[in-house]
Amino acid sequence: MDSILIRAAGPLSGTIPISGAKNAALPLMIASMLTDEPVLLENMPRLADVEALTAILSNHGVDVQVRGKREGDSTTTGRRLEFRAKTIVDTTAPYELVRKMRASFWVIGPLLARCGVAKVSLPGGCAIGTRPIDLFIDGLEALGVEIDIDAGYVNAKAPAGGLKGGHFTFPKVSVGATHVMLMAASLANGQTVIENAAREPEVTDVAECLVSMGAKISGIGTSTLTIDGVSSLHGTTHSVLPDRIETGTFAACVAMTGGDVLLAGARPELLRNALDVLEATGTQVGYESDGLRISRSGDRIAPIDFTTEPFPGFPTDLQAQFMALATRADGVSTVKETIFENRFMHVQELARLGADISIDGQTATVTGVKRMSGAQVMATDLRASMSLVIAGLVADGETQVNRVYHLDRGFELLEEKLSGVGADIERVSGD
Ligand code: EPZ
Repeated sequence: MDSILIRAAGPLSGTIPISGAKNAALPLMIASMLTDEPVLLENMPRLADVEALTAILSNHGVDVQVRGKREGDSTTTGRRLEFRAKTIVDTTAPYELVRKMRASFWVIGPLLARCGVAKVSLPGGCAIGTRPIDLFIDGLEALGVEIDIDAGYVNAKAPAGGLKGGHFTFPKVSVGATHVMLMAASLANGQTVIENAAREPEVTDVAECLVSMGAKISGIGTSTLTIDGVSSLHGTTHSVLPDRIETGTFAACVAMTGGDVLLAGARPELLRNALDVLEATGTQVGYESDGLRISRSGDRIAPIDFTTEPFPGFPTDLQAQFMALATRADGVSTVKETIFENRFMHVQELARLGADISIDGQTATVTGVKRMSGAQVMATDLRASMSLVIAGLVADGETQVNRVYHLDRGFELLEEKLSGVGADIERVSGD
């Protein structure tokens, strides 16, 4: 099995291009199932999760083609992929496929909207928490769907004549359940109002793509979404928004090592809260027309306190990376995780590198240390893996991060991007 080796190499400098967002790319791919016409997605990141979802969609009959670069396009690094769900050939999403990627459960929305039925495996738990599906069930029931759970599968059936518009207030913010409700309601009969909807930029990106497919959605970007159902959607071309989590991750790398790096294509409004926390460490954030410039000079990283929250709060998907930064702060930082109940698994691994972190419930107290030393570490999810890479950038000696497949799920060309700005990082084959 491959691993990644990192050695401390001093301040980073240069430019890192930011890729299209994984967490927008995946639901956009699923949204392509809502029409029988082609949906061309641009700026698609090359990620293991995109490949895995492609296989899952193929199982439902979606044809996927790689298209060439747009003429004259020298700015985007991502691929152009065309998805066409001319005919849905299978309304079952089997366990073998859904268990590999939780987001594939979201096909339940388009399957119900287009075919009136869906049989989708329960996704099960995952390393970062139990991650139930009650919000999906309650939301879909508000659209008239009958749901029965049996033998590990959710069997869902729309009313005769199709989904019915309805009113649903989320008791808790859920990104995935908001995606599914938006997709399903776009093809429902009548109006749907969703309250306490997720406002994450990836939800907005999907909503905007749906509008370009002919959906009638208002309130985009707010917590109340109103959808007037239409009888069919058409094809479109949509460019995936830049990845705010990748942006924040590389920003944390630069804050850790010091230096000066332009994150090309990054959009600050997608991660204001995290940038504020970054500035509190003493790191400079420069807003430039072609991206974000992150720089830090001097030795001191000031301690930080942050709490993960739904957007526009601090994103849970950056918690591990910013905790890694706090391990070297000059003082005590506190990190509170409110989204997932088990997202501190990187703490034990950071401790192997010399970090001083204690956990009390959902709060981690991080006492900065002056020195860390490289070791073999492994991670249980992709963001946790990145926290180890960030610590490895300043730890003495060599850090070996195992289970690299986690990183490949969510970070495009990671070693190339980091070594391009001066990091000493390489992938070694375990065979
Ligand atoms: C999305 O997951 C992201 N995944 C996650 O990114 C991200 O951490 C998460 O949103 C929160 O921002 C994708 O976009 C593919 P949720 P999702 O439903 O939609 C609870 C990464 O590293 N909940 O917003 O699955 C749930 O347990 C990943 O890229 C219910 O209680 O997250 C959690 O505590 C990991 N019942 C909270 O809501 C439900 O029915 C928020 O989860 C659904 C969710």
